[in-house]
Amino acid sequence: MRHWIVVPAAGSGRRFGGGVPKQYLELGGRPVIIHALERLLCSNPVALVVVVAPGDEYWQRLAGRDDPRILTAVGGAERIDSVRAGLALLAGRAAPEDPVLVHDAVRPCVTPDDIRALLAAADHPGGAVLAVPVADTLKRVDTTGRVTATESRAGLWAAQTPQLCRYGALVAALAGAGGAAITDEAAALEAAGHHPRVVPGRRDNIKITWPADLALAAAILAAQERA
Ligand code: C5P
Repeated sequence: MRHWIVVPAAGSGRRFGGGVPKQYLELGGRPVIIHALERLLCSNPVALVVVVAPGDEYWQRLAGRDDPRILTAVGGAERIDSVRAGLALLAGRAAPEDPVLVHDAVRPCVTPDDIRALLAAADHPGGAVLAVPVADTLKRVDTTGRVTATESRAGLWAAQTPQLCRYGALVAALAGAGGAAITDEAAALEAAGHHPRVVPGRRDNIKITWPADLALAAAILAAQERA
């Protein structure tokens, strides 16, 4: 089955802080994004679009991005704008029925096995998303830090990436969606009336968001190499 991949990598890392965007920080000797790209390319896509910020010099200078299947697009203000730009680059190449995986550049620990498991769900009409059941007890907290309620975690899953959908359906869902509230593809698909399914993933497929996540990701990669 032929499939395509879009990797949004146009974020500035506001929550992470620091000068270098987190997708370009070093992790076990190589940039975060290179780990993600290598793992994604193992699934043998027709092409993989990396969506970078306008004028991104880190990407221009990056070593290890010379695989001929890698294409580059320029992203926008919100993640959803960047994903749209990546999909637009595939217009005329991807058929409406072709599966597309969307994966955050800042999830370098995703395993090729999980990517395969997600691709195996490509027949699901509403799309599919790697996710894990929520393990923590969830507290609703007001602006003063006071707990106002304990929420039930029954039936709650934390969505990861990659997320998978047919090209035509994803383009249509994203065309009708807008704003920062749509933080993943599944949310756009849901808003369009689809019901994506979850594919159980691994807890170590973390998203690098805060500085402490970098050390955690390094430990995860080392453990995965030993396994
Ligand atoms: O900011 P956050 O960690 O949620 O970003 C998730 C992914 O989306 C990152 O890989 C980031 O580079 C990407 N992104 C993007 N365009 C934006 C904002 C985020 O491609 N405008």
